[in-house]
Amino acid sequence: MTQDELKTLVGQAALSYVPEGAVIGVGTGSTVNKFIEALASMKTQIAGAVSSSEASTARLRALGIRVLDCNEVGDLAVYVDGADEIDPAGFMIKGGGAALTREKIVAAQSRRFICIADESKWVPRLGAFPVPVEIIPMAGARLMHQFQALGGQARLRMRGDQPLITDNGQHILDVSGLQLADPLAFEMQVSQWPGVVTVGVFAVQKANVCLLGTSQGVKTICF
Ligand code: 5RP
Repeated sequence: MTQDELKTLVGQAALSYVPEGAVIGVGTGSTVNKFIEALASMKTQIAGAVSSSEASTARLRALGIRVLDCNEVGDLAVYVDGADEIDPAGFMIKGGGAALTREKIVAAQSRRFICIADESKWVPRLGAFPVPVEIIPMAGARLMHQFQALGGQARLRMRGDQPLITDNGQHILDVSGLQLADPLAFEMQVSQWPGVVTVGVFAVQKANVCLLGTSQGVKTICF
């Protein structure tokens, strides 16, 4: 099966975690796009969705799914999102699509995080994928030095010849070469640095379930 087919498979499999009548959290990315397409088949059975990006909001609305603001709803039963990497503890690197801040916000409001991913995302240990960090632009140079002191190399994410601007009007650093032996401690440490909006290690908001698309079918891993 191709990677695209595996994404379709897990996007469809996630429908069984969507409670009837609920407002659900919806992530961002190419795997989530498959979930959104599948979700359209049950749009009359849900009350709506809280979205983690302008891109997902546009897709949801285009398919006739009501999009609500976080502040209009209470706890969400489930949050469905992809990952750039996921490890055997359910810890993830996210933010390849630059939506990490809103993803973490919606995940924090949700009782269960259902991670949908093709098998290329499953890793024994996080860190091969550069860690995305959303930052306030004026802190950029100092934060690059702080990551360097941890052994990382931070690069400003660009779109063409300009820095990429997130949905929140901020910049993204992609940090490679980090040792993420303790993802929880790393997330807690970097989250304290002035100018960091969100670090793309999801250890506090880890996955509760991973639906992993493999050539043998969807594997369900519970954490
Ligand atoms: C977006 C994310 C995505 O979940 C992550 O990048 C995976 O994306 P894809 O499903 O396209 O591989 O964190 O900010």
